Amino acid sequence: MTSIKGKVVVITGASRGIGKAIADECLKKGAIVVIASRSKPQGRQAGEQRKAEHIFCDVTSSKSLQFLVRKVISGHDRIDILINNAAIGLFETIAASKEQDVRAIMETNVLAPLHLTQLVLPHMRQRKSGLIVNISSAIAKHSLYYQGVYSASKAALERLTEAIAIEEAGNGISALLIVPDRTKTAFRMRALGSKKNAPLPLTLPESDPSRVARTITAAIERGTSICYTSLRSRIFAYAAALSPSIISRTFRKEFLLAGRPKGKP
Ligand SMILES: NC(=O)c1ccc[n+]([C@@H]2O[C@H](COP(=O)([O-])OP(=O)(O)OC[C@H]3O[C@@H](n4cnc5c(N)ncnc54)[C@H](OP(=O)(O)O)[C@@H]3O)[C@@H](O)[C@H]2O)c1
Repeated sequence: MTSIKGKVVVITGASRGIGKAIADECLKKGAIVVIASRSKPQGRQAGEQRKAEHIFCDVTSSKSLQFLVRKVISGHDRIDILINNAAIGLFETIAASKEQDVRAIMETNVLAPLHLTQLVLPHMRQRKSGLIVNISSAIAKHSLYYQGVYSASKAALERLTEAIAIEEAGNGISALLIVPDRTKTAFRMRALGSKKNAPLPLTLPESDPSRVARTITAAIERGTSICYTSLRSRIFAYAAALSPSIISRTFRKEFLLAGRPKGKP
């Protein structure tokens, strides 16, 4: 068990949502937190004493990522934990997905965490310690209709995370994959695509971001390599691995129902 206390934690996209909740939780545990996002973090909760440092950063810009790493290293001398959390969604069928939207998803969700990891690794290697945390999604395990491109981006991030864990173990660096499922944030509202308001299957209650953040920080401190933030995320992952055909059949049925005009059988 390694405490987060005193660790320099860089979190991308922590201006709101799950990233903001992780930042709050890390602050509570005594970490030095740096938030990297395009907008300032949303208001802090009442009673919070310590503040995260905020650096304006667009993760899709190489210059912005280089500036971020330079700034953190010059201010704190090290990065102990990098949390690649920033991402955007795309709610659209594969057939109708626009090239510019697909590129935006891949740049934000795959290329940005890859590039930032490449910039941070030399500093972690020098100290022979560090942790890369990548935030995936339950639907990386099996695609869902209207989210094929997003799902593909998270599956790519998962393969990158596995490779980091293998290649960097000898350098004292580990990787942690986080697998959240539906969580109460502005993610869907802010996503690209024309199907943002379309019904999704299995109407399940959304997880609370603070609870998700507590699960994530506990996994960081435990030193595990994968963390499902809810039981249903774990069940979905196992079902997708054991019987993808059942998942596919269920979603096909739901997709046909979702596309049917209201009132018609
Ligand atoms: N919410 C869910 O149901 C759910 C489920 C599974 C997985 N996830 C994953 O959890 C993570 C957090 O999602 P969330 O629900 O908290 O989403 P969110 O509320 O929409 O927050 C996304 C964050 O990413 C940042 N961001 C987006 N593009 C960026 C860019 N180009 N440069 C820098 N920052 C950028 C945003 O900050 P700025 O706009 O200020 O830059 C924001 O802070 C994501 O990786 C998402 O894929 C979410």
